[in-house]
Amino acid sequence: MADQVATNITWHEGDVTPEMRKDNMGQQGATLWLTGLSASGKSTVAMALEKMLLARGRHAYCLDGDNIRHGLNKNLGFSAEDRAENIRRIGEVTKLFADSGMISINSFISPYRVDRDNARAVHAESNIPFFEVYVACPLDEAEKRDPKGLYKKARAGEIKGFTGIDDPYEEPESAEIVLNTHEQTVEESALALLKMLEDQGIV
Ligand code: ADX
Repeated sequence: MADQVATNITWHEGDVTPEMRKDNMGQQGATLWLTGLSASGKSTVAMALEKMLLARGRHAYCLDGDNIRHGLNKNLGFSAEDRAENIRRIGEVTKLFADSGMISINSFISPYRVDRDNARAVHAESNIPFFEVYVACPLDEAEKRDPKGLYKKARAGEIKGFTGIDDPYEEPESAEIVLNTHEQTVEESALALLKMLEDQGIV
């Protein structure tokens, strides 16, 4: 976890309670954290779920690795340190989204277990539901898909430190749900997440 640098700052408690937010939004906010290899299907499933939730009148929003790296995290690369900072910032951002009552759907490779566990911990501290979703797809299948041609480049040595090739991916050990995207359709995966949210009383 990052150290507190600023001094002379005081937490300001608001008057709006989590219960009031929940009533106002008509739903309980939550974070879904999709982790998996590049090309495993994280963003595709996340966006399909977002559409399904909106069609049901729910409030949902996707935070996506490639997209966030165009803005908030444009100053970060793919060193272990930068990946950790990428995930730390998003862990905090999605916590705020979920606290506001949104169903926040995150798709980040988030290859290191400790970084994902930290994101889980900041939610637990604030009693905000957090679901780790392992988007499981064998490396050879992800490499076959290779929609952006990045595995090819990594194999050719044109990208260094590519997850699954010469940088590790640490599989989740206690994900709330595992999606085998090489065996099920995008719709089936998104519906499995929707069912989990229903079973957990989020929607
Ligand atoms: S993470 O490791 O820090 O969680 P993030 O999900 O934000 O990664 O971004 C991953 C995306 O960046 C991939 O889908 C791919 O398009 C791109 N990318 C570029 N270089 C790399 C790399 N070295 N390793 C993994 N993904 C990379």
